[in-house]
Amino acid sequence: MSTSDRLRAALVDGLTGDDAISDPAWRAAALAVPRELFVGSFFVPVPGSNPTAYRPVHRTDPGWLRQVYANETLITQLDGHVRPEDVTGGTVTGTPSSSSTLPSLVLGMWQQLDAVAGHRVLEIGTGTGYSTALGAHRLGDANLTSIEYDPLVAERAAAAIGAAGFAPRLVVGDGLIGDPDGGEGAYDRLIATCAVRYLPPGWLHQVKPGGVILATLSGWGFGFGLVRLVLTAPGEGTGRFMPGWTSFMIARPHDRPPRQSISLLPGDERPSRIDPEVISTWTGSWVAQLAAPSAERMGAVGHQILWDVATGSQARTAPVPGGGWTVVQRGPLRLWDQVESAVEAWQRAGEPHQEGFGLTVSPTGQRVWIGSEDGPGWNLPI
Ligand SMILES: C[S@@+](CC[C@H](N)C(=O)[O-])C[C@H]1O[C@@H](n2cnc3c(N)ncnc32)[C@H](O)[C@@H]1O
Repeated sequence: MSTSDRLRAALVDGLTGDDAISDPAWRAAALAVPRELFVGSFFVPVPGSNPTAYRPVHRTDPGWLRQVYANETLITQLDGHVRPEDVTGGTVTGTPSSSSTLPSLVLGMWQQLDAVAGHRVLEIGTGTGYSTALGAHRLGDANLTSIEYDPLVAERAAAAIGAAGFAPRLVVGDGLIGDPDGGEGAYDRLIATCAVRYLPPGWLHQVKPGGVILATLSGWGFGFGLVRLVLTAPGEGTGRFMPGWTSFMIARPHDRPPRQSISLLPGDERPSRIDPEVISTWTGSWVAQLAAPSAERMGAVGHQILWDVATGSQARTAPVPGGGWTVVQRGPLRLWDQVESAVEAWQRAGEPHQEGFGLTVSPTGQRVWIGSEDGPGWNLPI
């Protein structure tokens, strides 16, 4: 047995023991696909750095193969163009824009998708091609199409997928449009390994009624929820959010627009009814993002800042010596009023994790709700 085979078997055994792999067919796929074909060089975050700095790791570095077979996301590109081999000295900062996703997450999502042999599947975000190769092993080349936005990333993925012995259909382009050659109801399943602010209408038509879309909803407030939507009619469906803590880099066309550095300006001040830190928590940030979907969230402990990209509206909180918090709001959107009401509705519902939320989509809109369709909810920014 080669070192690669031995490390891969150990990873797969670990994932099976942790219940990340329960389906023998996906276990077979994980055992068959050598991850090192897909992730030559990658970035690892430097512990304790702020902003996060990344150190390139190359094939020739000691321990490289062992790191490839860790259950870790391996970042392969920053800021849409910086590759590990471009970094000549030390470390670099930037925003991850392509990666080989955490193996437990990739395999968990493939299983949650409930795709079986014979299903036609559309994957959005080929990335390194690792998840695509796993899918091709399980579903067959002819049943899988994968779309990647970045031509250079797509070119590398195509080479790696070919080297691993698979030949699914690969498309270079904006996966938010769907398969450019796919018609109404062309797919049984759609899986996205980049996050979206709302489910693109093309997806809701290319997946047939009874079919499933598995995608992470996110936005500019760093909240995330992995939803499994079942189509009930063309363009219509409903579903629940999944347990766990899934996050993905946002689809490039849904990323926040570039902005100048923000100046904090005077505004109307009042006490805050909620502890601002709640919007730094996993589900609190999700609720805040639902309530103020065009706002970016910034700031540090005790000082939350919301800044609305479209209108310039601002909200910022500060602790009051002796207890409590104030908020200053400015601009046409009362961002803190929106967030505060949403957080209070969530708290009245018992502060459920994202898995207590659901999503209903129709031609007239997409609404995330708590508990049931008639519970408190917010429209996604379509
Ligand atoms: C987390 S990586 C994908 C990981 C991949 N599934 C793997 O296992 O290696 C996300 C990828 O989505 C791609 N992406 C971003 N926006 C996209 C879009 N609109 N259409 C298709 N791909 C997109 C990025 O370029 C990036 O390569």
